[in-house]
Amino acid sequence: MKEKLQKIREHAMAQIREAGNLNALNDVRVAVLGKKGELTSVLKGMKDVAPEERPKVGQLVNETREEIERVLEEAKKKMEALVREERLKAEVIDVTLPAKRNLSGHRHPNTIALEEVERIFIGMGYEVVEGPEIEYDLYNFEKLNIPDGHPAKDEQDTFYINKDIVLRTQTSPCQARVMEQGKLPIRMIAPGRVFRSDEVDATHSPSFHQIEGLVVDKNITFADLKGTLEEFAKELFGPETRTKFRPHHFPFTEPSAEVDVSCFKCGGSGCRFCKGSGWIEILGCGMVHPHVLEMCGIDPEQYTGFAFGMGLERIALLKYEIDDMRLLYENDIRFLGQF
Ligand code: DAH
Repeated sequence: MKEKLQKIREHAMAQIREAGNLNALNDVRVAVLGKKGELTSVLKGMKDVAPEERPKVGQLVNETREEIERVLEEAKKKMEALVREERLKAEVIDVTLPAKRNLSGHRHPNTIALEEVERIFIGMGYEVVEGPEIEYDLYNFEKLNIPDGHPAKDEQDTFYINKDIVLRTQTSPCQARVMEQGKLPIRMIAPGRVFRSDEVDATHSPSFHQIEGLVVDKNITFADLKGTLEEFAKELFGPETRTKFRPHHFPFTEPSAEVDVSCFKCGGSGCRFCKGSGWIEILGCGMVHPHVLEMCGIDPEQYTGFAFGMGLERIALLKYEIDDMRLLYENDIRFLGQF
């Protein structure tokens, strides 16, 4: 019996020494001390030992068990420490490495330009309103003095939904919608998307944005229009900016004008940016046509008004010196990241 226990002990010790990992150690435990383990089967054989020998043998078995357990536990602790050390080595953090950059999004150049224009007009007491992108022919053309057969209707190559409904070709229908509500005086701007059946190139897109402006009150004159737009141009392009009103024609304003600003790049002496002229066109405007006021339920004998309309993309392109409108729509992060 003594020899048998000795053998079990030596065998177990050898196996513990050889065990290469925690799982192998556990296998040794099960093989020796487990329910069906070698030592356990010795205990089960105690009934064959002479009764007077039993206490002695029992003590021997217990001593062997305790020793194996102790050595197993030591080996386990050693191995765990080794594993931990290796993991720490593998997971070492180099605090001197440059940090990962957190890329946060930001506003599109169109949005930056729009918010700038809104800020300026809100500062002058204007309200920001919106109209529908899918619009009645009635508002897009008719109430703006553009009846069937009028050449302006052909000029603005229109997307028709049916004969009465169009994708609005301009934000000007917002003028008619606001005037019809009958709340006077009016001081509003109406930004939004417009649509024209145009081919895409550096300056055209079938969908772009305009900002409409409308003021209606008693005693509004062309001087108010000029003063307002001059102030706007100075705010947007800098205090040195000069403005020039060139006579033009729009069906819904009379008289009408196009507004140029002095080139903010060369100051007016002429450069590549203003194509040598010193001036850059930014918008159309005029005094609201009496017939338009009338059609929208406002008495032109009592009230007068002015209106203006500008292309948002054009403002963004000018402000940021971008030479191709397509860049605004392609969503190339290398482009957008620059603003
Ligand atoms: N709606 C015109 C266009 O798309 C722009 C415009 C011109 C708007 C004169 C106006 C205006 O309000 O008074 O070409």
